[in-house]
Amino acid sequence: MPPAQPFAVVDATHWPYPRWIAHRGAGRLAPENTLAAFRAGHAHGYRMFECDVRLSADGVPFLLHDDVLDRTTDGRGEAAALAWDELSVLDAGAWHSAKFRGERLLSLQALVRFCQIEDCALNVELKPAPGTEYETGRIVARMLEREWGGRLPPLLSSFRVEALRGACAGGPSLPRALLIGSPFPDCLRLAKEQACIALVAGHEHVSPSFVQQVRAEGLALLSYTVNDEAEARRLLQLGLHGLITDCVNCFDPGRQAA
Ligand code: G3P
Ligand code: MG
Repeated sequence: MPPAQPFAVVDATHWPYPRWIAHRGAGRLAPENTLAAFRAGHAHGYRMFECDVRLSADGVPFLLHDDVLDRTTDGRGEAAALAWDELSVLDAGAWHSAKFRGERLLSLQALVRFCQIEDCALNVELKPAPGTEYETGRIVARMLEREWGGRLPPLLSSFRVEALRGACAGGPSLPRALLIGSPFPDCLRLAKEQACIALVAGHEHVSPSFVQQVRAEGLALLSYTVNDEAEARRLLQLGLHGLITDCVNCFDPGRQAA
């Protein structure tokens, strides 16, 4: 089924997304990747969010950064081993602080609803469990292409090329970005091979010459995770398209320039 309405054209020269993107919702003020985190980011004026998405054992896309449940929930072991009805009853808030006790893991579908209601943009990082890269990309992109509903399409990103390949198969109309730590020789070629519109790089590795190379290939450039004022200024001066931050209470998301 095609999307309800055609998505806006997105590329490096038509970049409609907000410059500032709240990482994992607002993953410091509230438990990362939970609804509480997206609400906190929204309350601080953020209108675009990054989130980490993977599949449950029964194929439901949901938000979790780690392969295992231990750090951010009261569950144990591999998240991919549990079905969504088992995952959805875990506590994903108490590890952060007592006031978030009872906060649940969030399905991607519930986050899509939140973004629709609040008119927010989304960067979905595909975080597949090992061995599920293609399938995660395919299922998540297919779901988003069908259910997103807004004009501004979600931006799909991943460190895993195979996940981007799956995303291209499942939701070809959605824009994709290759995530990297530091630039490596083949990264621009890999991004172009997957018809990506952007690269998302570790902020400390973004040099003026790398910006030039990315620009020359017609790609947009975003960076993560920018939590320092001097570094934000440097990256804004370099003309980056997006800055992903944990520090939603440090930066004014309306700020465009250095
Ligand atoms: O998407 C940017 C950033 O989230 C990638 O690293 O480990 O925080 O998911 P990580
Ligand atoms: Mg992430």
